[in-house]
Amino acid sequence: MSHDLDRRTLLGVVCAGCAALATGCGSRAGTAPAAGTSPAVPSPAGGAPTAGTPGPTSAVPPASTQAPAPLAVLADIPVGRAVSATTADGKAVILSRTGASTVVGFSSRCPHHGCTVAPAGESLACPCHGSRFAVADGSLVSGPAPRGLSAYAVKVVGNAVLPA
Ligand code: FES
Repeated sequence: MSHDLDRRTLLGVVCAGCAALATGCGSRAGTAPAAGTSPAVPSPAGGAPTAGTPGPTSAVPPASTQAPAPLAVLADIPVGRAVSATTADGKAVILSRTGASTVVGFSSRCPHHGCTVAPAGESLACPCHGSRFAVADGSLVSGPAPRGLSAYAVKVVGNAVLPA
C-alpha cells in the first residue's frame, strides 16, 4: 500500500514540475528569448507579435529594387569611341557611344580564341591575332575571328551607363 502512495506522490510531483515548466516557457514581457529560438516580431498589420516572422529591419530596400552600379558615365566615352568596363559579376565588356545619349555594349571576349578585345582608336582590336571589330556595332572588320562580338545589353539612365 505504501508503495502505491509513493508512486502517486511521485507522479504528483512530476506533474507539478511539468506545469511549472510549461508556464515558465510562456512569453514574459522584458525577457530575452532562449538561445536558438526566434524573437517575437510585431506583425505588419500592427497586431499581436508573431514568433519567427521577419519584420522590417532597416531602410535598405530589397535587392530587386536597388539600381545596378553604373558601368561608366557618358562623359567618359567620346561619341564614336568606346571604353572597356567590367560588370558587377566580373565580365569584361566594351561600351561604345554611338550618339549623344546612346551607348551599345559588347562582350570583350574575342570569338576567335577568347582573348580580351579592347578599344583601339576608331576600332576594337584583339591583341592575340589581330582581329578588328567595328566600334559602332561590334561587327567583324578583319579576321581571323569568324564573326563579330556578342552583344551585351546596356541602357543609359541620366549620365550613367547601366546593364539593361
Ligand atoms: S583570339 Fe582574337 S584574334 Fe585570335
